[in-house]
Amino acid sequence: MSKNKIELHSVYKIFGDQPRGRALELARSGMDKDRIQQQTDHVVGLDDVNFSVREGEIFVVMGLSGSGKSTAIRTVNKLHSITAGEVLVDGVNVQKLTGRALQEFRRQKMGMVFQHFALFPHWRVIDNAGYGLKVQGLTKSERDRAALKALDQVGLAPFANSFPAELSGGMQQRVGLARALAADPDILLMDEAFSALDPLIRRQMQDDMMAIQAELHKTILFITHDLNEALRIGDRVCIMKDGKVIQIGSPDEILTNPADSYVAEFVQDVDQGRVIDVASIMAEPRPLMVSEHDLTDAAPLVDEMSGRFVVDENNRVVGLLTPDDVERARAVGSVDLRRAIRSDFDTTTRAATLNENYAAAGRGLPIAVLDSNERLVGRLEPFAVLAELGRVEELVESYRDGTDDSGHDAIGPATDNRAADNGTTEPRATSNGATR
Ligand SMILES: Nc1ncnc2c1ncn2[C@@H]1O[C@H](COP(=O)(O)OP(=O)(O)OP(=O)(O)O)[C@@H](O)[C@H]1O
Ligand SMILES: [Mg+2]
Repeated sequence: MSKNKIELHSVYKIFGDQPRGRALELARSGMDKDRIQQQTDHVVGLDDVNFSVREGEIFVVMGLSGSGKSTAIRTVNKLHSITAGEVLVDGVNVQKLTGRALQEFRRQKMGMVFQHFALFPHWRVIDNAGYGLKVQGLTKSERDRAALKALDQVGLAPFANSFPAELSGGMQQRVGLARALAADPDILLMDEAFSALDPLIRRQMQDDMMAIQAELHKTILFITHDLNEALRIGDRVCIMKDGKVIQIGSPDEILTNPADSYVAEFVQDVDQGRVIDVASIMAEPRPLMVSEHDLTDAAPLVDEMSGRFVVDENNRVVGLLTPDDVERARAVGSVDLRRAIRSDFDTTTRAATLNENYAAAGRGLPIAVLDSNERLVGRLEPFAVLAELGRVEELVESYRDGTDDSGHDAIGPATDNRAADNGTTEPRATSNGATR
């Protein structure tokens, strides 16, 4: 059993003039947040919160807006003083720390990443990433070394000398992550760190964070209001409501055994996994240009991929080149790319759902994602579609198994309907009718 890195014991946080007065008493007696606010004009931020984050785990706190997530994470580095209870980090009572000791403790132990990570626009990426170290008084070369290493961990080393404005939103958020990693803290505190990113980049960031976690074994306290994100990245998930902890468990436990109707309602959202859109899991299109390649130089580029789309100068797809196609052309001694490519690939749009692409994905070929002008904007890997749907099915299935016994209504359509869904939507994932 790994040890606890962070512990909250019976933590209360009351906002108002007299936090330790009647409001606290009422909260302790079990009165709910709304009534306490009516009666005392004090807001209950945290109401007897207990949880422990184990060393090396990703612990996700999720809940609706105002449920106390940010308040909870801020007690851990004492951005908030608590009204009652105890917060321990590595056994140290954080709330007792003050002045230099508190500063030192924050710097050594934790890095923070927020939703909107303000980078200094006139500083290069490397200097932004090393900012926390500058505050710590490290020399320029020490800072640069640590910052570069952190940038490398988030895949941004090549952009060290760029300015923030030259990076995309997702890349800027990565600089934020690098900044938190640069001081090599044991703990990362992440408050809605990916919530402002668009779904494709968000998913990529989740993946990257999990990879970093696997390699560096940080302890991560992650806040989100998105259950899908929580279930995807969390080793354990803590669900909060009105300042209280409602349930703590593994994603499976939360889904199969929701503690109450509040959790169950969240869990129903998971069923929307069935309507995950293409945009959220498509990959970069990385096409070959028909005018620039012949088969000799194209062949190595399709190796180890399910296939690459070939486009014209207007980014319209002229065909798909798979490793099989390369083999076949080679067998007849041809190097003509145009003749080697196939036209029997499927197409879809960003807004289409994975269900709609289920049948097409079953063919094992990548699906071209086109914009309204028929230009190639992404590539949908069949494996990604099946894996994602499989994962969602599993989650929904296990949840349904858990609730059927208790006589609850099943959530959403029965699983069997998936085949029917696909039956009706299959024609929308149209085949390109052009002939070779
Ligand atoms: N500085 C403050 N002064 C007064 N009340 C506050 C303060 N900070 C938070 N609160 C209240 O505490 C409760 C919890 O707020 P908190 O910011 O922790 O919610 P959250 O779960 O992070 O929500 P969101 O998803 O919107 O970020 C809310 O009712 C909020 O109004
Ligand atoms: Mg918040």
